[in-house]
Amino acid sequence: MAADFSGIEFSDEENMLRQMVREFAQKEVAPTAEHTDRTGEFPWHNVNRMKELGLLGVPVPQEYGGAGLGRVGYCIVVEELGRACNSTANAFGAHASLCESPLVYYGSPELKQRYLPRLAKGEILGAFALTEPNAGSDAAALQTTAVKEGREWVLNGSKVFITNGSVADVVVVFAANDKKLGAHGGITAFLVDAKSDGFKVGKKDDKMGIRGSDTVPLFFENLHVPEENVIGNVGEGFKVAMGTLDSGRCGLGAGCMGAAMRCLELGLDYAKGRQQFGQPIVAFEAIQFMLAEMAEMIYTGRLLAYHVARKMDKGERVTMESAIVKTYCSEAGMKCADFAVQIHGGTGFMAEYPVQRLFRDARVTKIYEGTNEIQRLIIARELLKRFP
Ligand code: CAA
Repeated sequence: MAADFSGIEFSDEENMLRQMVREFAQKEVAPTAEHTDRTGEFPWHNVNRMKELGLLGVPVPQEYGGAGLGRVGYCIVVEELGRACNSTANAFGAHASLCESPLVYYGSPELKQRYLPRLAKGEILGAFALTEPNAGSDAAALQTTAVKEGREWVLNGSKVFITNGSVADVVVVFAANDKKLGAHGGITAFLVDAKSDGFKVGKKDDKMGIRGSDTVPLFFENLHVPEENVIGNVGEGFKVAMGTLDSGRCGLGAGCMGAAMRCLELGLDYAKGRQQFGQPIVAFEAIQFMLAEMAEMIYTGRLLAYHVARKMDKGERVTMESAIVKTYCSEAGMKCADFAVQIHGGTGFMAEYPVQRLFRDARVTKIYEGTNEIQRLIIARELLKRFP
């Protein structure tokens, strides 16, 4: 069965995209999710199919070879992928949101022209490298340095937990051009070619969830980057990082809702089939209330994510709103996964049932792209600005 909620209005084009991605995700991606989780292998087949279907450039403007469907289009793809396989949704997110967005929003016309068409076609894959061993929540404390030498920048330092880090051809890297200035003018964003000398990839991380998503540390040793590859202005990289994360967090919410929908579908199916005390367990209110609460959260989370995505597509700044989407949808997604396991009882704890994978996959959404504690800090700061 396919549970759905139609509270959101989509344009004809968005509906066509939704239909196409849903068909692809359900027919081709969902059957690979268990294998991807078990082996931890990067879902190359799914990514290559997305390339053939033109999905890797959905949010990229048409003038740069993309579909021009903006944040809403991006959310549609990530929601449907999240419903099928979270590892695949993550690979897509690091490419189509975290790598393409900084170029779309902040790149020079020349940089856009050089890279966006190839990223949109999937000829090259992208990643985003902000986090460091000593700069997680305190992203401005990054220690990777960028020193100008003639017409090039020379980068030294390291990054951790980089999604798509070993499979990407280009990586958006943040480095300090002036440590004293930090977030206020001392950080610059660069588009780095992964084939450059001095670009090194560390050992792949073994994770609790999203196990097929590629997560690695990166090392930069006298890595030369041409000055044309600065994204935005020198010293304004922190704003590039934060603006990119505003858009990423909104999409993350849609992905959580896709996975939550899958939890609801699995919970409903199991509850209808499982007999106890002489009747299907779905007849018990205790089970119905869990299903109802899941539906409430999915309905609300989807409305929220798409509402904020539309605001972004109108060019509005959504720093507070996307932090709200991120906290709400990640916590709702986690709760839905927990309910789905609970409805399955002991069966839900067994490795061969998909609900345990959804539960493990959901956990990271409260951590990455900024912990929920940092999101609440952002929300509180914005509140205080708006109601001084
Ligand atoms: N948009 C534009 N500009 C912004 C902004 C935004 N959303 N947020 C802040 N800025 C600007 C501020 O206006 C300020 O500019 P001025 O110097 O001109 O005043 C500057 O950036 C510094 O801002 P703050 O003073 O607010 O900076 P801070 O050091 O207090 O940090 C923070 C703020 C919110 C804690 C930030 O560090 C943060 O978001 N931390 C979490 C990091 C994070 O999300 N990491 C995730 C890594 S990516 C990932 O997980 C991807 C993956 O691979 C899965």
